[in-house]
Amino acid sequence: MKYLKAAVKETQRLYPSAVVNSRILDEDIEIKGYNVPKGTYIMMNSYTASRDPKIFDNPDEFQPERWLQNEKKYHPFASLPFGHGTRMCVGRRLAQQEMYLLLSELIRNFRLVPTKPNVGSICGLTIHPESSVEPKLIDRRE
Ligand code: HEM
Repeated sequence: MKYLKAAVKETQRLYPSAVVNSRILDEDIEIKGYNVPKGTYIMMNSYTASRDPKIFDNPDEFQPERWLQNEKKYHPFASLPFGHGTRMCVGRRLAQQEMYLLLSELIRNFRLVPTKPNVGSICGLTIHPESSVEPKLIDRRE
């Protein structure tokens, strides 16, 4: 389960469903020396932050192990697939529970074999696969 959670986290780092998160500032703030006044509409691009080589080593590589080595290695805001704060995703726990349940049951019972070499992704309002993934499911009891 530890590895599965790390794999889900790593998938969401590389492909955050909500690419951009936004806020209207309710107070003046300073970001890296820039004064940003109250009322400004600001956007945070999760996709870019998640692939920043200054934050993640080998940022484009799928490495679930990075989340198992040393949890404190990355800033807790380095990857925020469910947002943060009072308006963060209210369905986070439900979504995570469903992903862990579905994946653990699938993997326990089947071997998943890819049938397509590489499925790209499309970045719109959300990120989604450019075509269906269609893995072959082979019953582990066979
Ligand atoms: C993998 C699945 C999901 C992802 C990646 C996701 C991601 C997000 C993100 C990034 C936000 C914006 C958070 C922010 O502005 O800080 C959000 C908001 C929200 N999500 Fe999700 N979500 C998921 C599943 C769900 C589910 C299953 C539900 C409901 C059962 C849900 C309900 C909501 C609601 C109601 C908000 C608005 C919260 C607010 O504005 O106060 N989400 N989600």
